[in-house]
Amino acid sequence: MNILEITGSPHKHGCSNYLMEQFTAGAKKAGHEITRVDAAFVNVHPCIGCDHCESGLHPCIYKDDMVEIYEKLKAADAVVYSTPLYYHAPSAQLMALIDRYHGIDNLIRNTGKRSVLLVTGGNPDPTFMDGIKQWYATTLRYLGWEKAGELYVHGCTTPENLENTESARKAYELGLTIGEK
Ligand SMILES: Cc1cc2nc3c(=O)[nH]c(=O)nc-3n(C[C@H](O)[C@H](O)[C@H](O)COP(=O)(O)O)c2cc1C
Repeated sequence: MNILEITGSPHKHGCSNYLMEQFTAGAKKAGHEITRVDAAFVNVHPCIGCDHCESGLHPCIYKDDMVEIYEKLKAADAVVYSTPLYYHAPSAQLMALIDRYHGIDNLIRNTGKRSVLLVTGGNPDPTFMDGIKQWYATTLRYLGWEKAGELYVHGCTTPENLENTESARKAYELGLTIGEK
C-alpha cells in the first residue's frame, strides 16, 4: 500500500509527530511504502476561493509545493494525518494544505482511499476533542474515503507523556493493520 503521511505540527520532535513515528514503524513493519509531507515546513498558499480550478478541471493558480503534493495525493492508497489540537481543530498548517484539496477535489473524491487521524491535545478534558472528531467524520464522508482508524490523546504536552503508553502502542498498531480489511 502506498501511504501518504501529512503532519501538522511545527514541532519536529513534538507529541503528534511522536504518534506519527509510531504509526510509521508499524506501517514499515507491514511492508508499506511511505511518503511524508510536513505541512508546517512546505510552501503552500491558502486557498483564496477563486474557483479557477473548478475543483480539478484546471490547474490551481498557485504554483507552489502543492503541485507536487497533488501528485502524491492522487497516487496514495491511504492518507494519514497527525496534528496537534489547535483551538479544538486541526492546526492551521494542516488545514491550509487540506483546503487546497479543493483544487483537485473531483480527482480524489470517491477513489477508495483509506485514512487515519492522529491527534494530541494538551487539555486533560477529553471533550475538547469533540469538534475535531466531528470534522474528521464529515471530511471523510465528503471525500468518500474509508476511515481506517483514529486516535485522540488528551493531556499531552511533551512526547515523554507518550513513551511506553497504550496510545503509542495504538499508533503502532494502526500502522501495522492499515492494509487489512
Ligand atoms: C495555538 C495553540 C492552540 C492550542 N489549542 C489547544 C486546544 O484547543 N485544546 C487542547 O487540548 N490543547 C491545545 N493546545 C495544546 C497542544 O494541542 C498540545 O500541546 C499538543 O500535544 C502539541 O502537539 P505537538 O507537540 O505535536 O505540537 C494548543 C496549543 C497551541 C500552541
